Amino acid sequence: MPDQAVDIVTIFPEYLAPLRESLLGRAIARGQLRVDVHDLRSWTDDAHRTVDDTPYGGGPGMVMLAEPWARALDDLAPPESSAQPRLIVPTPTGRRFTQEIAAELAQQKWLLFACGRYEGIDARLTDYAGQRMVVDEISLGDYVLCGGEVAVLVIMEAVARLMPGVLGNAASAAEDSFTDTVDGLLEAPVYTKPATWRGLNVPEVLLSGHHGNIADWRRQQSVELTRRRRPDLLEG
Ligand code: ADE
Repeated sequence: MPDQAVDIVTIFPEYLAPLRESLLGRAIARGQLRVDVHDLRSWTDDAHRTVDDTPYGGGPGMVMLAEPWARALDDLAPPESSAQPRLIVPTPTGRRFTQEIAAELAQQKWLLFACGRYEGIDARLTDYAGQRMVVDEISLGDYVLCGGEVAVLVIMEAVARLMPGVLGNAASAAEDSFTDTVDGLLEAPVYTKPATWRGLNVPEVLLSGHHGNIADWRRQQSVELTRRRRPDLLEG
């Protein structure tokens, strides 16, 4: 049995095809990870396979019906079962996704993503799910996507590289921008060969072999870059 499992429910299963590529694809092929994408409409029973209706109280757009979602949850994670997934619902009204949340999700045995579309899912769905599983509503940022599918791709890419045994080089994840090991600063710019390229030179200090000076330079570059681009990260 794989160490970790991910289920994704969506009305656009083909949107999630990129999950089988690259890093995640290799983890799936090695049998470490199970990833299954499910069509929400398979839990409808009317001829039109309806998943939405007009909002109570009025307003624009359509709201996803709670019932097909509840059937999906009950099928994938039966209420009587003691093993329950962590339910992730991408939504612009969720808490903001961070590297810290990615690290937390990477430790979970079982993630279940519910991709909403239109104006979102009937709010009673998360109340219902919350009776037996931890529910996390997550936003990628202060903008509105058409649905949760692309958000799941982003979240899973950030999570997968932190899953135990998925990334080949664990050290490179630890040194990334936004992780604690770099004090919450942006990473310094990086260079590779050749030392002179189209008239542009690699900073001299990086060719010096002097590890102390290199570390000082990187630190100073990190602080400078962070001050310029993300002053909010320096507050406090
Ligand atoms: N769905 C729609 N907009 C979103 C956002 N900003 N983050 C996550 N999921 C979303």
